[in-house]
Amino acid sequence: MALHPSVLSLGRKTLHAWRHSFLANALLRNLAPSITKQPIENCPAWKAKLCGLKVPQLVKPRDEAAPLGAANINIILSLLDEATQADGDLCECGVFRGATLVPTGLYLKQRGIEKSIFGCDSFEGFGAAIAFDIELGGMGHEAKRVHGMNSTSMKYVAERVNAFGLDEMITLVPGYFENTLQQLADRTFCYVHLDCDMYDSYRTCMEFFYPRMAPGGIILFDEYDDPYWPGCNKAVDEYLSDKPEKPVRIERDNFVKSYVQKARVEATANTDAPELARAS
Ligand SMILES: C[S@@+](CC[C@H](N)C(=O)[O-])C[C@H]1O[C@@H](n2cnc3c(N)ncnc32)[C@H](O)[C@@H]1O
Repeated sequence: MALHPSVLSLGRKTLHAWRHSFLANALLRNLAPSITKQPIENCPAWKAKLCGLKVPQLVKPRDEAAPLGAANINIILSLLDEATQADGDLCECGVFRGATLVPTGLYLKQRGIEKSIFGCDSFEGFGAAIAFDIELGGMGHEAKRVHGMNSTSMKYVAERVNAFGLDEMITLVPGYFENTLQQLADRTFCYVHLDCDMYDSYRTCMEFFYPRMAPGGIILFDEYDDPYWPGCNKAVDEYLSDKPEKPVRIERDNFVKSYVQKARVEATANTDAPELARAS
């Protein structure tokens, strides 16, 4: 039986109030030290769920392989191993509540990798450019509207970053990418996680990051081939049409995602990427 929209809306408001409550924050502060002490791969699912983190033990494998839905932390962690061998910093565009940003920071910290991570988001959901994605079509999604995905805040994510001792590693960059990415213009990147759904956002990010990727650096696309967000393929394919690299699929737990790895040497473009995909 489908729930009435007013019931769903009340449920969302209650959850939002709980997440921002004193009690939820106290619980986070209480659990964070024990989570920080052990490898993120060993973090029990219940602790991660209470703190809003995506960790391997919380992943529910899909029945069938499909390029659908939320980010998969096992894919992220395996690409981090490869990407962080390249020079430069890391960036996530599309942080929402920090469920993948914070584990990325913990993973690096636990391995003693001293790189900076930037977390870019409006922290108020999608802007007016979502109109183009609505026009583009694709499967219907509750969040496909102006201010969709706005049940978060910069304060909420900053509290998590602080509770897990990641203030020195993670910098939050609030605002729409088109207005904020220039702050990072002097940097080189080894890993960028694009989890930003919209055509315009993917286009802006590809134009900004691709030229700044170190050789061997990886850009992971969360929505490539996702039937809900066709704007991702359109933006990525348009941008890569005259580049040597093409998207490579990676699969874990029947979650299928795609990434592009910046060529190490111009003449042997992307020769390493299929190796990484086969290893999965
Ligand atoms: C799917 S959520 C990110 C999910 C997160 N990585 C996770 O796994 O929990 C998409 C996010 O992208 C952000 N976003 C999309 N386009 C944006 C833009 N142009 N500027 C800033 N934020 C944007 C939205 O605000 C939203 O928080």
